[in-house]
Amino acid sequence: MPAFADEVRAWAERLGLPLEGEAEFALQLGTDGLQLAELGPQAPGPVRVDFVEGAVAHRRLYGGGSGQMIAKAVGVQPGVRPSVMDATAGLGRDAFVLASLGCAVTMSERQPIIAALLEDGLARAARDAEVAVIAAQMRLLHGNAIELMRDWQGEPLQVIYLDPMFPHRDKSALVKKEMRLFRPLVGDDMDAPALLQAALALASHRVVVKRPRKAPVIDGAKPSYALEGKSSRYDIYPKKALKP
Ligand SMILES: C[S@@+](CC[C@H](N)C(=O)[O-])C[C@H]1O[C@@H](n2cnc3c(N)ncnc32)[C@H](O)[C@@H]1O
Repeated sequence: MPAFADEVRAWAERLGLPLEGEAEFALQLGTDGLQLAELGPQAPGPVRVDFVEGAVAHRRLYGGGSGQMIAKAVGVQPGVRPSVMDATAGLGRDAFVLASLGCAVTMSERQPIIAALLEDGLARAARDAEVAVIAAQMRLLHGNAIELMRDWQGEPLQVIYLDPMFPHRDKSALVKKEMRLFRPLVGDDMDAPALLQAALALASHRVVVKRPRKAPVIDGAKPSYALEGKSSRYDIYPKKALKP
């Protein structure tokens, strides 16, 4: 699309992607922002980060606020909005939920294309009158969280939240579509034990790990307790009480 030619070139250069040629996937840019699409007749629809409309926005308005399990897991309570690092940001859905509850969220994502989708979604959110205040609570670091956490020089982080990929089958259509696009890019995050170890060394108050409900805990330190939902479980590794 000629209107986006310069931006397309800039993304391609930054991500080291070819502008044309045979491919199974394409990163596309248009009026709705940046999206990742599988190509071919059987392909599901494209995936992009949309904090303004769609499922994430719906959850912000009708999703249960601070009663949500993720809110309890990170320790949101009256007068407490911990600073959170979402070390495995992905498409930023969990980070957005936490930011919309009032937590300052630092995200990290190491897969460059997913980080690009997230960066683009954040930039669009920052231009929306209503969502801009939430986007302002979120910042994105590109890179491997294990290294970022080991070399951390920034503000102290009260809670570190981890949701590494796990080889599981989720039946919802949306998740299926995203997984089809994600798996070839991300794989199964086999270094989750090192991620947990780095998080435990850095977080001042607690580490929270999201897992599929029936999945084993990450190898290494054992969680003190877990909160269980319908399909997910939050393993909690407390270090210090979060107080108002
Ligand atoms: C299951 S997804 C996270 C989904 C996310 N919680 C959400 O709400 O959209 C896991 C993501 O973590 C990223 N990831 C895994 N290990 C990482 C690490 N060590 N550093 C940075 N990103 C990591 C993967 O690239 C993948 O995008």
